[in-house]
Amino acid sequence: MPNMNREVLPYLECPRCHGDLAWAIDAEDEEGLTAAEARCTQCASGYSVRDGIAAFLTADVSDEDLWQSSASALAQAVEGDDRLRSPLMQAPPASLAPADLFFRALLTEERGDFAEGERLAALARDGLYAPAYRACHRRQIEWVVRRLKDAGGPVVDLASGRGDLAGPLLHSTAADILITDFSLRVLRRNRRWLEAMGHRGRASLLAFDARRTPFRPASLSWMTTNLGLANIRDPGPLLDELRRVGGGQLLAICHFYPPQDDANRQAIVHLGLDSLLYKEQALASLQAAGWKTVIENACIGDAMPTPTSRLIEDAGIDALPVAPTQLEWCVLVCS
Ligand SMILES: C[S@@+](CC[C@H](N)C(=O)[O-])C[C@H]1O[C@@H](n2cnc3c(N)ncnc32)[C@H](O)[C@@H]1O
Repeated sequence: MPNMNREVLPYLECPRCHGDLAWAIDAEDEEGLTAAEARCTQCASGYSVRDGIAAFLTADVSDEDLWQSSASALAQAVEGDDRLRSPLMQAPPASLAPADLFFRALLTEERGDFAEGERLAALARDGLYAPAYRACHRRQIEWVVRRLKDAGGPVVDLASGRGDLAGPLLHSTAADILITDFSLRVLRRNRRWLEAMGHRGRASLLAFDARRTPFRPASLSWMTTNLGLANIRDPGPLLDELRRVGGGQLLAICHFYPPQDDANRQAIVHLGLDSLLYKEQALASLQAAGWKTVIENACIGDAMPTPTSRLIEDAGIDALPVAPTQLEWCVLVCS
């Protein structure tokens, strides 16, 4: 199974007080550390590696992410309910609404069949997203992968989620990839996914809040994120923290909403996501945090609200957009 590479250790420090860490390694194999303890030599906080995943979560972090809670709520709702389980899991895939097909893909994965889960998810995405949305998004991922083809040093992918960027980076670059998220549930799923996809050796999994990372100052040559910045609620210190640890470039795949689109603006403000979903605001926040930002690879495409489930009441896929709109996609290259 993928485990934390030993080469990651020199990059790490205490995310609470920035003290040095003293490591005790309990188990390791050719793919890295499977079990270890780290203690801060300054504030005595403890962190651990369990089942190959390093957890640097500080007690003040609450994982309030909607994506995680809806996925786990869904699994519980379906597995415990015969009337839902059989129409969702046994109907011919082509007969399911796109949202339900996507839920079936998630549950198929949860049961351990990642290849079938990926096949169903790809079918579902055809019905969930406008073609221009998918094309613009794919172009950004391809651009980042090309930029990092020969990257030296590890690439830290922030708020990695289900690995839509980390997967192509592992597949098409030679870099070591740190897959990170504040949700241990997401990282445990990713460990099984990496194993199923045969990605061994070059991926490490780390749990931390991107607003309070465990990295040494200016230690990271490359950070990436695929729509991660705008998924972090109350970003507060996020951009300052990334500036603290960044010693090279941050490549951030973003999409921006038109400022005059009132229906979506209301929903965005309600979710507390406005600071990084509007281009001018995002650029101003990056500048205030000391980043020099260049916009690369921009394209504009239609976006529609993702259709909701027909089987599970109130179950949706993406919270935004709430009304049809046009998004401007790009990679922000921040240095
Ligand atoms: C939907 S994903 C974004 C897509 C993902 N980057 C990809 O390439 O597939 C958003 C992720 O951000 C994570 N997240 C939200 N807030 C976070 C935070 N403060 N620190 C780290 N991860 C966070 C969530 O757990 C979720 O997995």
